[in-house]
Amino acid sequence: MYDAGKIIIGLIIFLAFATFPFYSNMGKAVAKPDPKLNTPVIQQMKVKQCVESKKFMRAKHMQLLINWRNAALRRGERLYKGSDGRITEISLQNQCLRCHSNKRNFCDECHNYVAVNPYCWDCHFYAPKEANNEH
Ligand code: HEC
Ligand code: HEC
Ligand code: HEC
Repeated sequence: MYDAGKIIIGLIIFLAFATFPFYSNMGKAVAKPDPKLNTPVIQQMKVKQCVESKKFMRAKHMQLLINWRNAALRRGERLYKGSDGRITEISLQNQCLRCHSNKRNFCDECHNYVAVNPYCWDCHFYAPKEANNEH
């Protein structure tokens, strides 16, 4: 005969381990990402706007970056005309990261939350020491 008591204790221990990642993630899962806009460059802007509207950037910055890359590398275009007519130099480092110099508290803040890890930084440079660049 098997020992019902031992099986139940075994089950409880099993459940404790099986659900541990759930409990230990609870705090993180509740904390919404809070990308910070308080970099020196953005603080100095009179009109605080991105290359496109905030709504557009939030939803479509990935596609925009891919379009930028294709424009620059396939068509040799180095200038981007936004939907409101403003012209921006096409550059991940010199533009996105000039304003968003706090990569860690901006890009990574959201990416960690949704568990995406863009491979761009294998090649594209960001100054790790300045990645927290905020005032
Ligand atoms: C000239 C400075 C500047 C440049 C260049 C710039 N941004 Fe922004 N970005 C901003 C500002 C300011 C905001 C906040 C806009 C607002 O609140 O309406 C913003 C907002 C955003 C948001 C939305 C954040 C949120 O909380 O929803 C994303 C995503 C973003 N930018 C990504 C990028 C990417 C990717 C690039 C390069 C393609 C880029 N930005 C280039 C200044 C800039
Ligand atoms: C407001 C939150 C937010 C901010 C700020 C943000 N991202 Fe993202 N980003 C996301 C989300 C969400 C995804 C995943 C979208 C998807 O999979 O459809 C993503 C995906 C990406 C991707 C595609 C990655 C992949 O593997 O598909 C790139 C590239 C990217 N972001 C670049 C940036 C850069 C560069 C910055 C900072 C300048 C930035 N993002 C800031 C939310 C954000
Ligand atoms: C294997 C290396 C590598 C990876 C990974 C990579 N890139 Fe690039 N990227 C380059 C090179 C090289 C250039 C050309 C630089 C130039 O001519 O200005 C470039 C150019 C670009 C440009 C246009 C010019 C500029 O200075 O920004 C954009 C935008 C860009 N990449 C975005 C991305 C994004 C977004 C990712 C991640 C989803 C990414 N790249 C991943 C190597 C890479």
